[in-house]
Amino acid sequence: MRRQAASRARNIEPFYVMEIVKEAQRLAGAGRSIIHLSIGEPDFSAPPPVQAAATRAIEESRTQYTPALGTDALREAIAADYRRRFDLAVDPGRVVVTAGASGALLLALAAMLERDHCILMPDPSYPCNRHFAAVLGGRARLLPCGPVTRFQPTAEMIEAAWDADCAGVLLASPSNPTGTTVAPHVLSAIADRIRGRSGFLIVDEIYQGLSYDHAPTTALALGEDVLVLASFSKYFSMTGWRLGWLVAPDWLVPSLEKLAQNLYICPSAIAQHAALACFSDEATAVYEERREEFRRRRDFLVPALRDLGFDVPVVPDGAFYVYADIGRFGADSWSFAFELLREAGVCVVPGRDFGQAETSRYVRVSYANKRDQLEEAVRRMRRYLHR
Ligand SMILES: Cc1ncc(COP(=O)(O)O)c(C=O)c1O
Repeated sequence: MRRQAASRARNIEPFYVMEIVKEAQRLAGAGRSIIHLSIGEPDFSAPPPVQAAATRAIEESRTQYTPALGTDALREAIAADYRRRFDLAVDPGRVVVTAGASGALLLALAAMLERDHCILMPDPSYPCNRHFAAVLGGRARLLPCGPVTRFQPTAEMIEAAWDADCAGVLLASPSNPTGTTVAPHVLSAIADRIRGRSGFLIVDEIYQGLSYDHAPTTALALGEDVLVLASFSKYFSMTGWRLGWLVAPDWLVPSLEKLAQNLYICPSAIAQHAALACFSDEATAVYEERREEFRRRRDFLVPALRDLGFDVPVVPDGAFYVYADIGRFGADSWSFAFELLREAGVCVVPGRDFGQAETSRYVRVSYANKRDQLEEAVRRMRRYLHR
């Protein structure tokens, strides 16, 4: 029998962050105290009404397959939430419930990206996107985005990078790893340029709701031709429940439905029934209090990092990450992160996972950890960096 994975599997780069997480686990196993500022998920879990709804769904045996596009009730609840929060009318028929934002990204790309076509993405950005494109036979072209444009592309940058091979653009707002949002007028200009080229625009709004300096916005306001995806993982604190969604133009939904039916039949039934409770007043109050807590943590961490000598060129306005330049410490971010872990017991993520442009200068510091842990991490880093 053949003992080799197909080239599309062999050629995918690993998550480099796992190297440092493995080292952190080894040190913790040997008795060292490690503080994780590496985590990409909230340190909260689903609030009580959501947990109760999941338990009820199990007790009432509502655990069969659901329609591939998701239950009508959840598609309607998601659409209603866009009306409630953004005063935006979204036809529930355009909402496709998926297994997390990951499922939505895969579906959107499978439906829109032709083999050998190229999709533009910011550098730095979420690593899986490049790999999704590659698995589907397309190509990701990374667009270096620095602090001047808040690590996000502009319409001019997209115009300059676009050529005959380009089919579309994928960006996240707020972004992982930078926590920065694309301003609505910039996104509108980007959408216009892409329309002019008959391309597609996919906006990953997985950190939707986790905005600290302005009211959250959505790219759905730009028109029905923009594909927007989101998730229950972050604002709703449900990473392991594997639930997200995609809002697509109505002409695309039948293709998405066929893909979903074939690829995974349907998203988790239990998670879908439970997620209905996310939109209750009780759950919303909990989520909004958590958003405030994240904002307080950001407001503690950014000045603290700067005080330690990190350069934080752009104050993140969303998600729970700070993208910090370690140039002043005279090391590349890979060795810096390992040294910091071994010497100070603080785990941050080196930039390498997120692209190629200047990523050896940056680390991603997550504040999805308790305030006392953040404070202790800062104390440890101070002792280590100012020896
Ligand atoms: C920008 C971005 N998109 C998508 C995902 C996938 O998230 P999930 O599948 O849990 O919704 C993540 C996870 O961290 C992310 O940061």
